[in-house]
Amino acid sequence: MSKVKMYTRFERFWHWCQSAIILALLVTGLQIHFTGLTLLDFATAVQLHRVFAWAFLGLAAFAIFWHITSGEWKQYLPTNQSLGAMVKFYLVGMFKTHEHPVRKTRTQKLNPLQRLVYLGFKILIFPVLATSGLAYMYWDSIQRSFGLETVPLSLIAVVHLAAAYIMVVFLIGHLYMITTGRTVAANLKAMITGWDEEHGATSA
Ligand code: HEM
Repeated sequence: MSKVKMYTRFERFWHWCQSAIILALLVTGLQIHFTGLTLLDFATAVQLHRVFAWAFLGLAAFAIFWHITSGEWKQYLPTNQSLGAMVKFYLVGMFKTHEHPVRKTRTQKLNPLQRLVYLGFKILIFPVLATSGLAYMYWDSIQRSFGLETVPLSLIAVVHLAAAYIMVVFLIGHLYMITTGRTVAANLKAMITGWDEEHGATSA
């Protein structure tokens, strides 16, 4: 096993900023949805949600630029090689301390299952969240411009909420997977310091 700089400075900055922003969007979004909650008053929650939404979009623009210019987007290309082995490992092997079926290297940081999940988020869940969120913000103008007067805002809210719930399920899974590295804290440390072992590491 050798230690390598697995995550660049920008990647870690992007990861932790995105985590903080998504958490803030989740808390403010839940406050908007569940009016019985008393974490923030409704107007403040709406205002903050909009500010964090723009921060999220700004960060996403930088991240897209970085992925394209660095070639890191290739890490998300799906593959069915070892996909079955990965599922078996997560369901059984991991609890029997079997060896990880996929070698984690600087150029192949994600295992086939992670590739599928992260790609799904990048091309489906995030775009649905952002598009429905922007539609939510500008619904009056959109309705007038495209003759959508009969489409109620509640439909946009349902789509946005559904994507937010999928996000919550992902977050819970992601937090659990973080703890399944060589040691409970190994994956977390790697995303903080950037350094990780190149071989046999499970990753979140
Ligand atoms: C670019 C990203 C996003 C944009 C533009 C956006 C925008 C919005 C807007 C405009 C609203 C309605 C409140 C208002 O009038 O301001 C809203 C509600 C909400 N957002 Fe977001 N949002 C985004 C991302 C997220 C994320 C990542 C989550 C959760 C992880 C989330 C969760 C919610 C929830 C739960 C509601 C309440 C929905 C309802 O029941 O009406 N949003 N969002």
